[in-house]
Amino acid sequence: MAKRKNVELPPGQISGQAGPAAQPSPSPSAPSSYAVEALELVKTYPGKVTLFNFSLNIPEGGIFGLLGPNGAGKSTFIRILSGLEKEDSGAFRIFGQRPSAESRRRIGVAPQENCFHPLLTCMENLLYYGALYGITGKKAKERAQELINQLGLADKKNVQASFMSGGMKRRLNLACALMHEPRLIILDEPTTGLDPSTRRQLWETVTRIAATTNATVILTTHYMEEAEALCGKIAFVNKGQVAAYGTPRELKRLAGRELLKMKSVPGEYAKLEPLIKKLPGAETITVTEHGIVVEAEDAAALVSAVTQIFMDNSEKIIELSVSRPSLEDVFLKLTGAQLKEATKNEAAGGN
Ligand SMILES: Nc1ncnc2c1ncn2[C@@H]1O[C@H](COP(=O)(O)OP(=O)(O)OP(=O)(O)O)[C@@H](O)[C@H]1O
Ligand SMILES: [Mg+2]
Repeated sequence: MAKRKNVELPPGQISGQAGPAAQPSPSPSAPSSYAVEALELVKTYPGKVTLFNFSLNIPEGGIFGLLGPNGAGKSTFIRILSGLEKEDSGAFRIFGQRPSAESRRRIGVAPQENCFHPLLTCMENLLYYGALYGITGKKAKERAQELINQLGLADKKNVQASFMSGGMKRRLNLACALMHEPRLIILDEPTTGLDPSTRRQLWETVTRIAATTNATVILTTHYMEEAEALCGKIAFVNKGQVAAYGTPRELKRLAGRELLKMKSVPGEYAKLEPLIKKLPGAETITVTEHGIVVEAEDAAALVSAVTQIFMDNSEKIIELSVSRPSLEDVFLKLTGAQLKEATKNEAAGGN
């Protein structure tokens, strides 16, 4: 169990990315202000440390991505920021201010689980959320109508939320978070479960909102292509900590250059590793239970030699690919697990 600790966080003292886990960031220029500064947050549930010395600075403006497998702690961090959970120790600031009712008024959260009332219509839900923030009467109706138009909900304005499609529900969930024109918009997996075309429509909506409102958007997702398309900066979260931080380009550089991935049966990779290591040009070799990943400047040039090693050792190759680094590769390199596999482990109760 983590020891309780109070950390005072003087305004402006932290620059760049706090915490050793975030050190890989090669970002040279620290922004002048942050939407969120979190330092050494710890959160435990009975028998489970969910955030452990979680440190992260999120720059003001633009879209920031939080990526990580199921159970990494992303939503817990969001719940702490939004005041739904209390951290055990550590500190955080929102736009330079300690957490307070006032600082939290600046946040709009669209949680992972839809939070509108299923028996109310789209319009009624928006008016309800407006009222929670003191927005009532004509102003509330105008704002709700504006959001209904912006988010393509016009057809559903008077439809009971429970009768709307999954994609429309996600839009309504987002609209509820925007009623009070927050400066910090937090979207917890806004596109999970949506079909590819609806997902892209939502990407456009989120990008437009970020561009036109000057708000800072924090977005969690399991979709690497989504993070790459939308986010100026990304933090990888794994096992309650920030494992890496940077722009998608900076992060991909962490994964090295080209990758040759091989999978075989029986898959005695430990035996193959030292043999592959001897090949000129094979820079780094990572062995996982899912195969061998060879990093090289020219991975394609290694294919025949590596294949020969597999064959010489009676390994039947069942998968072979050459690829340029992707964000998924960065995650694999940092954690030794694929996002999907880490997801399965969490579902099975591990972490
Ligand atoms: N109220 C709670 N009580 C006990 N354990 C909890 C509670 N909330 C979260 N946890 C545990 O904390 C860990 C982190 O959960 P969290 O929801 O923050 O992960 P996540 O990164 O958002 O995952 P996902 O991608 O699945 O949404 C999980 O193992 C989860 O089971
Ligand atoms: Mg979550």
